[in-house]
Amino acid sequence: MPQLSVAGQQFEVALGSNLLDALKVNGIAVPSSCRAGSCQVCQVRCVAGQLHDAQPQALPAERYAEGWRLACQCRVEGDVQLEVFDPEREGMQATVVGHDWLTSDVLRLRLLPERVLRYQAGQHLQLCAGPELLRPYSLASLPNEDHWLEFHVQCRTQGAFSDFARQLQLGSTLRLGAVQGGSLHYDPDWQSRPLLLMASGTGLAPLYGVLREALRQGHTAPIRLCHVAHDTQGHYLRNDLLALAEAHPQLALEFVVAAELPAFLAQFRLVERRSIALVCAHPVRVGAFAKCLYLAGLPRARVFADVFVSANEQGE
Ligand code: FES
Repeated sequence: MPQLSVAGQQFEVALGSNLLDALKVNGIAVPSSCRAGSCQVCQVRCVAGQLHDAQPQALPAERYAEGWRLACQCRVEGDVQLEVFDPEREGMQATVVGHDWLTSDVLRLRLLPERVLRYQAGQHLQLCAGPELLRPYSLASLPNEDHWLEFHVQCRTQGAFSDFARQLQLGSTLRLGAVQGGSLHYDPDWQSRPLLLMASGTGLAPLYGVLREALRQGHTAPIRLCHVAHDTQGHYLRNDLLALAEAHPQLALEFVVAAELPAFLAQFRLVERRSIALVCAHPVRVGAFAKCLYLAGLPRARVFADVFVSANEQGE
């Protein structure tokens, strides 16, 4: 049987075991959430031996070359030596400089990192509330413009991270993990193409960053942003978006409550097949949006989607 060496321990596991399961069963603290290669919180570093990785393309090439792997996507097929991500050793400290409620259950958290952090609008970042409590959150801030990192934390239902985030105060510190690239970004080549941004709940956060990036880069074609929320109170950036729309006439906004979504999708029409769509929502919503876009004639290659990691903590 293959032998795993990690954190000063060695143990044997069955050939072909899922690495994340094997680590957890043997008491090694590795955070996990989606188990689908999307949230990327389950990273471990392979320093010797080989793993069978079902999604080697999920991590940036540079990080992959450093030996990082997504434990949930790997099978053990021989002896391996691993290191687990240690926020204390490898993370960066950040200080809470903003902690306010956009609605009764959406917390806006602004963090000032101890060093300049390079990221792009639409990416996400791991926030660490303890060795086993890492959560990826989308960045709503705009690099080189906002001097803080901004996150929108859905606290409607209880969850380990949202409970932690609630009790943070100005001046509190926490550790940051790695910046992860999702599918959401703004490409300067899109400047003359209609842009369609579709989000539910706090999936709006990365699209708010991407929207401001597009406007900053002088996007000239129409931009249509659709936000789905549980109820009208859930349109938590409504005033900020209305202010942007007033300053940028090419921006059109649609605020939809969940009960009206089926009717909204049924009457949805695409203006141009050249459009680019960016979607961020719970997986069920992403599926509904993607189907609607496909039926409206938008090729799948022009749809970029990120899903929420945890319905509990980030649902609408
Ligand atoms: S738990 Fe492995 S990528 Fe999300």
